[in-house]
Order: sequence, then C-alpha cells, then structure tokens
Amino acid sequence: MKKKWWQEAVVYEIYCKSFCDSNGDGIGDLQGVISKLPMLKELGVNCIWFTPIYTSPQVDNGYDVADYRNIDPAYGTIEDFKKLLDLAHGMGIRVIMDMVLNHSSDEHPWFRESRKSKDNPYRNYYIWQPPKEDGSEPNNWGSYFREGNGSAWEYDELTGEYYFHQYAIKMPDLNWEYEPLRREIYDMLHWWIDLGVDGFRLDVFTRFKKPAGFPDTKKAPNPQLDRNGFVVDTSMCTNIDGIHEIVQELYREVFGPRDCMTVGEGAEVTYQNALDYVCASRKELDMVYHFELASRARYSISAEFFRNVQKNWAGVMAHNAWPVQFMSNHDTARQVSCYGCDSEEYRKISAKLLAALIHTTPGTPFIYQGEEIGMVNVKYDSIEDYNCCYTKGDYHSMVALGASPKEALDALAPRSRDNARTPYQWDDSENAGFTTGKPWLKVNPKYAKINLAEDRDSKDSIFAFYQKLTRMRREDPAIIDGDLQFLLEDHEDLIVYLRRCARQTLLVVANLSGKTVPFPVPEALKENLWERRLTNREDTQSSLDTGRDLLPWELEIYELAR
Ligand code: NOJ
Repeated sequence: MKKKWWQEAVVYEIYCKSFCDSNGDGIGDLQGVISKLPMLKELGVNCIWFTPIYTSPQVDNGYDVADYRNIDPAYGTIEDFKKLLDLAHGMGIRVIMDMVLNHSSDEHPWFRESRKSKDNPYRNYYIWQPPKEDGSEPNNWGSYFREGNGSAWEYDELTGEYYFHQYAIKMPDLNWEYEPLRREIYDMLHWWIDLGVDGFRLDVFTRFKKPAGFPDTKKAPNPQLDRNGFVVDTSMCTNIDGIHEIVQELYREVFGPRDCMTVGEGAEVTYQNALDYVCASRKELDMVYHFELASRARYSISAEFFRNVQKNWAGVMAHNAWPVQFMSNHDTARQVSCYGCDSEEYRKISAKLLAALIHTTPGTPFIYQGEEIGMVNVKYDSIEDYNCCYTKGDYHSMVALGASPKEALDALAPRSRDNARTPYQWDDSENAGFTTGKPWLKVNPKYAKINLAEDRDSKDSIFAFYQKLTRMRREDPAIIDGDLQFLLEDHEDLIVYLRRCARQTLLVVANLSGKTVPFPVPEALKENLWERRLTNREDTQSSLDTGRDLLPWELEIYELAR
C-alpha cells in the first residue's frame, strides 16, 4: 500500500535556542537554521520538528507560549519563518511545529484577562478553583516542576482563587472543557496550516483532560522529592476518561480535513494503550512517541529489553498504526552517554550502533540534533549553570529535604535535560562555533574534540554513517516495508533481527555491550549468501562468513543475496 510521506520520512528535531546563533546574542535563531539547511539536506533528513519558537518569556524554553501566532523575537520574525519554510520546502524538507496546548504562559493575553475577575470572558480559558475552607490549596496534587511549596495550584490574590498548573507556576493549564477556548485553538492551528506548515507535534496531549471534582491523590509522597504533602501523581490527569473525545474533536475540526501530519508526545503511552490514539480507524493521531526506550530515568538498555519493546510495538503496528523510533530528544540525556559508551575508544562506534537500531527498526526515525556527531552529556559544577526546570526543582527539593548540594547535583546531573540542550558543536572555535556572543547555556567543554567539522573530516565519521542510513531508508524497501523477526532471542548481549518484505531481506547484527562476544551464527542464516552492506567497524571481515566474535559495540547490516 502507498505510504504516507511521514512513514517514509526521517525527522530531525531542532531545539532552535541551541542550534545556531546568527546574530551573536547567544541564542540560536531562524537565520541560523536557514544557514544550516544544506547540512540537513546532506544528512538526508526530510522533515524538521521545531520545538516551540513562539513568543514566550522562556520560563521553560518556549513551552510557555505567550502568543501562538508569532515568533519569539530572539529567534526572528514571522517573515524569517516564512522564508525558512519556503527554502526548506524547496529542498524537499517538510516542517512541523510543536503545539503546546495543555498550558500557556501566564503572560498570554488570555491569562492576563482570565485572572482579572471571576466574570471576565476569559475566566474559563483556565482552571480556577476556590480554596478549601481553611484557605489551603484545592487538593494535594504536586506540580512536575516542584516550584514554590510544591503544589500544582497557585493562589491569585486578586480574585481569591487558585489556578491549576501541572508544570511551572508561570504555565497555567488551559481548560479544554470550555468550547470557546477550543475554537480559538482550532482557528490557530488552521492559521499555521494556511501558512504552509506540514504538521504538528502535540506536547503532553495526554494531559489535556482533568478529572471532575479534582479529587486528592492517594499516592504516597516520594520522600526524596515531594514536599509539604503535595504529591506528583501522573495518573490524576494523564490518559483519563474523556481524553479521546478531545483528540477526536481535534481530528474532526483540524487534522482530518487538512490532512496534516500529527505526532503526539506520549506521556504515559505504552504499547497497550497506544492504539487508542493511533489506530487509523480511531481518527485521532498519526503517530505517538513513547518513552519505553528513551527515558530520563533509564541509563542503559539491555538486549532483552530492546527486543521486548520492539516486539510490543511491532504488535501495535500490525493494527494499522505506525511507530516512532528514537532514543533521545530535548527532554532526555544524550543517547550515546546512556545507552552506548561515550569513552574516546567507543563513542563513535556505539553512536553508530544506536543510530542503526533506530533507523532499521519499523517506524519513522526521529534524530535529535547533535546525535549525528555523537554529542555527549555535560556536567556543570554548580546548579547555577543549569537551566532545566526539573533539575532545578528537584535540586531544591532534595537540598530542602537534607541532601548536600553535591549529592543532589551528582544524582541529578546524569538525567538533566540540559545534557541534550547544550549548544550544537559546529567546530573547535570558541563556543563551538555556535555563537560569537555568550551562549545562553554553557557549551559542553568536550567540543574541542567533539564537533561537526572534526567528525566530517574524520575517516570514521558518524555523520557519514547517518547519511548511509538515511540513504538506505530511501533505497532499501525492507527498511520501511519489512516485517520484524528477532533471532537469538535469549542472547544477553546480541541483538539480531531480520527485516523482510517481498523485495528484500535485511539482517541486523548488533553487540549491545562493551565486551567481545562470540556470535553463534544461526544455522538458517548459514544456508544463504549474505552481502555485508554496512558496518561501524570498517577494519573487520563479515562475521557471518568467518563466524568470528563480535567486537564491543559492533554493528553489521547484511542483505540477502538474490
Ligand atoms: C514536554 C516538553 O517536551 C518539555 O520540554 C516541556 O517541559 C513539557 N512538555 C511542558 O510543556
């Protein structure tokens, strides 16, 4: 069956603030992105996902939107955006926007109005509740960013009520129960489509619906993080009854009629509930990405775990749905530091192995900026250098609960979102060639050795390896159409799988460990002739022919000879 464009796409996520600064103010911008479009074209990506670039006070780096129909001046103007869109389209690169519709900034005109009085026409755009009799918060829910006293409710003197914010105090939740708000949102989405964008990534869409009556959570507090009895409990507002009606209405009003691509951020989406959102017959979303592989809380992936996640999602795919493949994004640490090995010896090799897993399993691969040059985690000396709201909130909670600053930092640094957000490392000049000014977030000091220029000049370039993978996606039918079958299913370190379609069979062999591991070549494979198509270790012979051991982090892709 003819595929949709997004099933054949390679998506590249741009965190604009950290990508390329064209005017020396230390903040990446749209002109910077424009200057790098040829590089993205060479990489072989054909879709860009922009994290939010709308007008914003930047409390959460743009996920706090103050104007959904404009570009933040730090990034440029709407004219710059239109130019970028034209140029990208001219190069065959589509553009999708990050839509943050669970909350806005408290500086959005809707909220400024909403807080003015109880009978303001915008009052119900947000979620307001009176205090309990003793004046305290309406319930015991904690906010994800654990600011202030930790509550998800903020008292507003002017009207004597609390407003609800799942995230920062300056990010009030929008009230999806209220039709006039929904209408504004639909109009605004149509406006972006009219402008020419090709689709949307939907931020935390599983949290749009809130439970009637706002009951207390019965979940016990996390002793290390939750404060003052306010408990972070994802289950209260995530995937709850009524969420599908909201997404279906979005589809009916916007996504369906305009045939635009949608990918939802699947907070708490698993292979068990994903089909409710992405089975085509549900008429909700095209894709949803889940955190079963990539997660801030996971520092390694075993071969068994990888197989299980992929098998579960292949099961989802069998039901008229299409998965997303990724191992890191702007909300996680760097994939090579977590799931590969970022030592000098293995960084490039393991970065390539992870890339190959993402690009050869079923679904659409999402590359996060910097992956293609093997950017690694950062460790700053002081909490002052960190920007991420989670890191700062958790740090202050931990210190308030008795941890020393060093203990708190050591615990939080490896999973800080700032690991992914350090400026892109273009070359070894000052500030990695990202800016001529002072970067908004400190550059990772490793840039002298890890940068695009070095990588592209080197014999073992990660970028060149990604180019081979994106080319395979364009030219090798099994990458998109093939089914998935694992071999050596009990192996502790090796991941071995076939991708088969009528026209082609590919075989992927990966050693997901830092050890040399004997490769017990399955008999069935020995009966055929295999051509080695790709390897992350040019100095080796085909392991299928020789039956030799697989070296640490070794990866090979074979094609069945006809
Ligand atoms: C998910 C986004 O990816 C993250 O960066 C942001 O902080 C939260 N949603 C809140 O919008």
